[in-house]
Amino acid sequence: MSDTAPNTRIILVSGKGGVGKTTAAAATAIDLAARGRRTLVMSFDVAHSLRDSLGLGGFLQGAAHGAVSPVTDNLDMLEIDVSKEIEAEWGPIYRHFSMLMSHGGLTDVLSSELAMLPGMEDVSALLAVDRHARSGEYDALVLDCPPTASTLRFIGMASGLKWYANHRLARERRMVRMMRPLASLFHGEAYYLPADEFFAAYEGITARLDAVEAMLRNPEVTSLRLVCTPEKVVARETQRAFMYFCMYGVLVDQILVNRVFPEEDPYFRQFALSQQAMIADMRDWFAGVPLTAVPMLEEEVVGPEPLARFGARLSEGRDPGAFYRQDSPITVTEEADGWRFAIKMPFVGKSDIQMSRQGEELMLRVGTFKRHISIPSAMMKATRTQAAMEGDTLVVRLSEG
Ligand SMILES: Nc1ncnc2c1ncn2[C@@H]1O[C@H](COP(=O)(O)OP(=O)(O)OP(=O)(O)O)[C@@H](O)[C@H]1O
Ligand SMILES: [Mg+2]
Repeated sequence: MSDTAPNTRIILVSGKGGVGKTTAAAATAIDLAARGRRTLVMSFDVAHSLRDSLGLGGFLQGAAHGAVSPVTDNLDMLEIDVSKEIEAEWGPIYRHFSMLMSHGGLTDVLSSELAMLPGMEDVSALLAVDRHARSGEYDALVLDCPPTASTLRFIGMASGLKWYANHRLARERRMVRMMRPLASLFHGEAYYLPADEFFAAYEGITARLDAVEAMLRNPEVTSLRLVCTPEKVVARETQRAFMYFCMYGVLVDQILVNRVFPEEDPYFRQFALSQQAMIADMRDWFAGVPLTAVPMLEEEVVGPEPLARFGARLSEGRDPGAFYRQDSPITVTEEADGWRFAIKMPFVGKSDIQMSRQGEELMLRVGTFKRHISIPSAMMKATRTQAAMEGDTLVVRLSEG
């Protein structure tokens, strides 16, 4: 593995709101720690409930909030606090924004105010993943992700920022360099222009985000466990989520169907039967992806022991650190006259997909989500781009026109 892919295994847990993501993430982390893996379970949902799920008590987290805290042997937890992440990571950018804002009449700009800027949560979470994956302190990171749409935004964030850095930032940096002497003539100081160190820091952060995005899309490092319940509406969202994760190049290696009612219960029998029919459909839709059904339990799953039992149901005897499936959603192969990109995109038709080639990038858009895929420089001469659906796979061929 390259240095962008440290030996830390990353497991993402996502799914619709309320289906059991935090519980599944905490249970997976407890299972890994019990097997001797040094594990960090982290959540970056603003409404954190990881601490409650682990049964750690405390109404508010106090000083521990935003800091790594120990849970059991081999297990630490972290509920990300965006302001603290900004303080830790965003020094030069923070200084720039505080200078800008204090110039506009605000005297004391806090990181909590910067934390409200759009995208800041995702960027902070990505940087935290990068830092802990690289620290050498953990064998595994388990991420309790926010509901699906936010997880997708989080994963797509790095490529969006990179696009900005590549297309705009370099030009702006040159412009600001030219303007600085002029501006200082008029005002004595040019401090409201971004300092050069701002651009350097921004580029540094963009490079790190790029590396962490590559980790999340590396099927030898990261896989995602998609949690759902056996109801039509949830199942539909799970289909869409699965398709989008494929489009972003994230390997989904388990579908977890949670809260399945037992058939024996006479009162819920009809309900249980319709759930079973739904599960059978899901096995068809997600053929090739291991599907694990977990029963509705009589009690909430809170605290290390209930979580350990829950973890055993999730892993069904497997090592939760293993890849339950190894099938990269995106493959690139060289052909006689060019290159072939195969992007698995199930459940959508060709008319749902917009694709365009913009110089060194392929842009894919489905619904509100888009993804920029960089074309390696070796392929830049291949200017002819053709796309077709082959089964559930979008095949894009690049060849010299
Ligand atoms: N199979 C189950 N049987 C009984 N209770 C469960 C089961 N799975 C989860 N729970 C309980 O359901 C509640 C919600 O679960 P959890 O917090 O894991 O959901 P979530 O997907 O993380 O929700 P959110 O989207 O709000 O973050 C918790 O109290 C949890 O203990
Ligand atoms: Mg949760």
